[in-house]
Amino acid sequence: MAIEILPLTKADIPAAVECIQKAFADDPYFHWVFNDPSGFNINRNAASLSAHFLYGLSCREPIYVAKSTVPATSDKSTAASVVGVCWWYNPHPLSHPVPWNVWAQDWLLSFRQLFNNIRFGGRGGLNVKRYWLWKERQQETHEKVWTDPRGYYFCNVLAVDSSMRGMGVGRKLVDVVTQRADEDGLPCYLESSKGFPNLVIYEKLGFELVSEIDCVDGGDECKLYCMIRQPIIKA
Ligand SMILES: CC(C)(COP(=O)(O)OP(=O)(O)OC[C@H]1O[C@@H](n2cnc3c(N)ncnc32)[C@H](O)[C@@H]1OP(=O)(O)O)[C@@H](O)C(=O)NCCC(=O)NCCS
Repeated sequence: MAIEILPLTKADIPAAVECIQKAFADDPYFHWVFNDPSGFNINRNAASLSAHFLYGLSCREPIYVAKSTVPATSDKSTAASVVGVCWWYNPHPLSHPVPWNVWAQDWLLSFRQLFNNIRFGGRGGLNVKRYWLWKERQQETHEKVWTDPRGYYFCNVLAVDSSMRGMGVGRKLVDVVTQRADEDGLPCYLESSKGFPNLVIYEKLGFELVSEIDCVDGGDECKLYCMIRQPIIKA
């Protein structure tokens, strides 16, 4: 079985969405923000993730999938399946206004989400109050720890299929963008709500814990670990 790391295409979106939904099924942030399992609508959630992927493709964000290529059973051709996703945002200098094309895509994303709300009769179990609470805490933390005015490559999601973990797929997915960050001399940033084993894994990938985000609502707490990787400048 060979693993290939490839830029996400539109055709990959359904498989990438499924990979994320499976990998984050036990994620603490996911359970905090979708805190009523009876209200969770997996199809609404898939529609939202798809809309975000379309946004990422239009904004040319670095989004990669890991594909495992296995020989097909009946002939000598091969079939590829998505076994991992790494979804980043490009760095934006902190003092620069949002570029017009990103601004336009922000609006398009809002319209797509409005359409999804109508189509699915709501947000599919998302606790909107908690979502905005997290966004507020996140913004405060970025203002505190994003000290490099050139901006950060922001790893929004990293997911590897549970059957393929510990085999180097996550490292391959991360390396594509950290190598680019090293060439640009720019730092990388991520947040993870799973402390174990992710903190150790991300330390092995060059990230250091810099802060924690505490989101508390009605006695339910969600902690996110914020990590930064400084660029490795080759002599
Ligand atoms: C986090 C995750 C993407 C890692 O992917 P992976 O393919 O298992 O990672 P790799 O096999 O490439 O391992 C990367 C490094 O961490 C180490 N590692 C992997 N699993 C580990 C574990 N459970 N404990 C300690 N170290 C571990 C590996 O040895 C490797 O280091 P090395 O290259 O120096 O040997 C995967 O566990 C996952 O999808 N988790 C669920 C979703 C999630 O929590 N995503 C992150 C939040 S955004």
